[in-house]
Amino acid sequence: MNPQIDWKNLGFEYLDTGCHIRADFSAGKWSEPRVCSGNQLTIPIAATCLHYGQACFEGLKVFRRADGTTACFRPQANADRLASSARRLCMMAPPADIFVEAVAKLVQANQRYIPPFGAGASFYVRPLLIGTSPIIGVHESDDYIFIVLGMPVGPYYKNGLFPVRGLVQEHYDRAAPNGVGHVKAAGNYAAALIGDKEARARGFDVSLYLDSATHEFVDEFTTSNFIGITRDRRYVTPDSTSVLPSVTNNSLQRIAADLGFTVERRPVRWDELATFSEIGACGTAAVITPVYSLTRGSETLTFGDDNAAGPVLTSLYEEIQAIQYGKKEDRYGWIHLLDEVSDVR
Ligand code: COI
Repeated sequence: MNPQIDWKNLGFEYLDTGCHIRADFSAGKWSEPRVCSGNQLTIPIAATCLHYGQACFEGLKVFRRADGTTACFRPQANADRLASSARRLCMMAPPADIFVEAVAKLVQANQRYIPPFGAGASFYVRPLLIGTSPIIGVHESDDYIFIVLGMPVGPYYKNGLFPVRGLVQEHYDRAAPNGVGHVKAAGNYAAALIGDKEARARGFDVSLYLDSATHEFVDEFTTSNFIGITRDRRYVTPDSTSVLPSVTNNSLQRIAADLGFTVERRPVRWDELATFSEIGACGTAAVITPVYSLTRGSETLTFGDDNAAGPVLTSLYEEIQAIQYGKKEDRYGWIHLLDEVSDVR
């Protein structure tokens, strides 16, 4: 355990743990994932990831659990999503077994950085896939590097399960209907930077994007999916070609259904937002972040209390965290236990 870290007060910030995992695709095959020291990478200056955006990534979490074991939440689902992103971007994804082995090796090599049980923190794992062939015409790479890095984190938005204020983006879109909004392309996040920066400057914590064709339907937040809860116990989340298939949202839908909610995945009109009693942003990093208000132009809609999460989002949050931290049985088969070994470096 690293004594320098204030586990209970971690934010969502980069920390160099001194190592990462790397696998290479060249001459038509993947190498074994290996532990590399340092946090630097040397690639050709004409690499396709740098010029033509052949880059996609994932985000998943590892938890130190009540019984002392270390577990990763749904790594297979993230491996599958990386493969789907790679297909859309004409990239070569590592097979799922390499993905999962790389995560396990990262955790092995970073045991000192896995937050203790009870600190309310987790170890965030960031797999990254990039095209590295030097090609100057617009063409897909022949070579790829798969990197997995990680660090201990606390909540993405400062206060965790605490309401934030959202701005609806009207001047910028993050994705086109048949574009890449449904895959975790690095460029999607670049497209959202300016809107987020302007929103923060105006005192908002999160940005919500509408569908780019009509601006009548809700898509998602920059960092996370949208969920709306109705008073008659419906869990509503947008069905859109521009929304990332969030592993957290998928998990919450299962939990919500088991708690007796009707789960509706369908187009969500901006006009119907006033019918929601609670709104949440959900994702690996955001977990569930309650959204107290949404401002669109001169209109502001509010949802519940501005200083406490609503009861439904609170119970969903507690349920998913209880499964992740091993306080409740893993009745869905989502927990991937990792070997407990001491720091191998
Ligand atoms: C995640 O939730 O893991 C993400 O990749 C979102 C990112 C903006 C932090």
